[in-house]
Parts: sequence; structure tokens; C-alpha cells
Amino acid sequence: MRKLQNVLVTGGAGFIGANFIHYLLAQPQFSGRVINLDALTYAGNLDNLVQIDRRYGAGATPAPANTTGGATPNTDRSGAAPARYVFERADIRDFTAVTDVFKRYEVDTVVHFAAESHVDRSIVGPRAFIETNVNGTFNLLEAARAAWAHRDDVLFHHVSTDEVFGSLGAEGAFSEETPYDPKSPYSASKASSDHLVRAHGHTFGLPFTISNCSNNYGPYQFPEKMVPLMILNALERKDLPVYGDGRNVRDWLYVEDHSAAIWTVLQRGATGETYLVGGENEWENIRLVRAICEKVAAALGEPPQRYTQLIRFVKDRPGHDQRYAVNCGKIKRELGWHQRHEFSSGLDSTIAWYRDNPEWVQRVRSGAYKDWIEANYAGR
Ligand SMILES: NC(=O)c1ccc[n+]([C@@H]2O[C@H](COP(=O)([O-])OP(=O)(O)OC[C@H]3O[C@@H](n4cnc5c(N)ncnc54)[C@H](O)[C@@H]3O)[C@@H](O)[C@H]2O)c1
Repeated sequence: MRKLQNVLVTGGAGFIGANFIHYLLAQPQFSGRVINLDALTYAGNLDNLVQIDRRYGAGATPAPANTTGGATPNTDRSGAAPARYVFERADIRDFTAVTDVFKRYEVDTVVHFAAESHVDRSIVGPRAFIETNVNGTFNLLEAARAAWAHRDDVLFHHVSTDEVFGSLGAEGAFSEETPYDPKSPYSASKASSDHLVRAHGHTFGLPFTISNCSNNYGPYQFPEKMVPLMILNALERKDLPVYGDGRNVRDWLYVEDHSAAIWTVLQRGATGETYLVGGENEWENIRLVRAICEKVAAALGEPPQRYTQLIRFVKDRPGHDQRYAVNCGKIKRELGWHQRHEFSSGLDSTIAWYRDNPEWVQRVRSGAYKDWIEANYAGR
């Protein structure tokens, strides 16, 4: 079992990164330190880590969400015991800043989440996806290669998506052997980053693992993504926009199960291996939206029609992949991971979380996100 001491989590202020930090610091077998490196784009939000900072940080109060510039909110204070959680505001495209973090914290493990992650945004503005997901990942790999030139007790774990494999017909599922066939600028940029990670492993001997996961849902997800968008729109009795005929199929996994899968790979994954992760839980988009309507209605003690009548079919996403499904037999068989959260209860607790956290919602919706959503979803 690998021993992790100084874990650099990139994109730790985002949805999955923040959930992963919560998960990792709660593991009794983990006694090390987490260094959260995040540029705080529109999707990064330190509100996701307030309790973590209070419990494991150096004691300073985090800055409000999406602040720009200024000092990092919590770094080690001289004289105090080293914090088990530190935040470093930096951009993965900045080689000097990233190299400095590797040195200062003697990083031995990277868990690389930082990315532009929304397919719709990659259609409206693909350039940022190449810059962060491709160039940023390359930069991080180069910083790791330089910092780890004389170490082999290290690991670069790259967090990727099942979307790199393209689109499925009615049958079958992606496996680790499926050829890459990305279809959107987002999935093409993630595929490129996967290839760069493998190339650094093959050419320079950089110890790495990769996981490709299906769609996640759960707390702290930015409300441009389907599940929180539908939950919040339903709660606010706004239109529920569904692409095309709603028959596209996605596999859904509770975010804590994804965190557990990554933690499993970090401890026991074989260097140079790729593991597919999924929920084995396929849903047509329209069925999922109806299920959310029913659950929101049940939670509020109202008839489901009050919510299903808000469903609106809108012009399909260009190049919309038809179906994703994941065969996650390898991580189950070889590493003993399995999903713990059942979909119905996972959705219930996600709906409850969004209902219970209106201030979080209000804060992430302000600023950059609001402008973008107004520009791109007006009238939908
Ligand atoms: N959301 C999913 O369902 C899903 C599924 C499989 C894989 N993934 C992958 O998991 C990772 C995390 O996804 P997410 O949904 O949490 O994304 P997210 O958009 O919620 O968070 C991304 C984070 O990365 C940060 N970031 C963006 N550009 C950066 C840069 N240049 N430098 C430093 N930080 C930067 C943002 O500030 C944000 O905190 C991504 O790599 C994504 O491709 C996501």
C-alpha cells in the first residue's frame, strides 16, 4: 500500500476536487497534508471547503467565493503546527508558480482535477479548454518531472472522463481497451491530457495512474451541470431545459463513490494503469429529469405534475453524444472498489443539500456565472 504524505490536489475548489478533499481528510489511514492548488475560475469556490479550512487549515478565515487577486487565504503560519490543509491560489499554466508549490511542500502525490469541465462552454469557447486541459496538464507534468527527477516514491494521478471514448449505440460499454474517439472540444482536450500523462510515463518514467469516470452528481456541483440545474430550476419553478428529444443516455455516480475510487487507486493502483469508474446506472436524460421532478415534488409535498409541466425540449447540443456506459470490472476486480451509494437515496440527499444551502447557491450564481448563463441560456 502506497504511503501518501504531501498530496497536491489541483482544482480542489471545484465540485469533485472539493468533495475529494473532504473525503481524503476523513480517512483514518491518511495522516498527510493536502495542498489545494486552484486558480479560482468561475467554477472554483472556497465556500466548498470552509469546514475543511476550519478543521485542518492554519486558522485563517477563507476569502469569500470567487475573489480575485490578493494574498492566499490560508498558508502555514510560522510557529504553528503545520496545517493539514493549505490553499494555494495558482494557475496550472504557470510553470514557475507550480514548480514553487512542488518545492515548498515536498509534494509526493498529485491528484489532478483542475480543468475546464463543461461541454457546453467548450462549444461556445473551446480555447480555454485547450489552454487549461492540454497546456496546463503538460505544464504540471513538466513541473512534476523536474521536481521528481530523483524520486520513485511518487505518483501523478490524472482524473479524466469516459467522454474520451466517444459515443455508444444502444449496446455495450466502454472498457480500458476502448479506442479513444472524443467528439467535443471538452472530450478532445481531456483525451489529449490523458495521452500526455501516458507519454510522460512512457518516455520519462513518470509514475502515473489515470481514472476515467462517468457523470458525477452530489453536493457542491456548480449549477450549470444537469443535476443541480434541474434541481434548482424545479425548486424555483423555472423551465427545465432538456436537449433534443431527451433520449441521450448517461451513467451516473455519486461523487463520494468517485472520491473513494480515486483514494483506492492512490493506495493500491498499479503504476502506469488506467481504471474506468462508473455507477452502472444508466438513465435517459428525460427520465432523469422526470425523476428529479418527482423527488422535488415529494420533498415539498406537492403533485409531480407541478414540476413535470416545467419540462421544455430545447435545440439539441451540437454533436451531442448519444450514450455513455462504463464497464468498471477492472477496478472492482483488481482493487476491490465498488459503488456504495444507491441512486435514489443519492438524489434525495443531493436535493436536500441544494435546498439546505441557498446561500451557497446565491454566491456561486453571482458574478461570472450569471453573466455567462444570461448570454447563453437566455430564452431556453
Ligand atoms: N463532473 C463530472 O461529472 C466529471 C466526470 C468525470 C471526470 N471529470 C473530471 O474531473 C475533474 C473535476 O471536474 P469538476 O466537475 O469538479 O470540475 P469543476 O469545473 O467543478 O472544477 C474545476 C476546478 O478547476 C479549477 N481550475 C480551472 N482552470 C484552472 C487552472 N488553469 N489552474 C488551476 N485551477 C483551475 C477551477 O477553479 C475549479 O475549482 C475534471 O478534470 C473533469 O474533467 C468530471
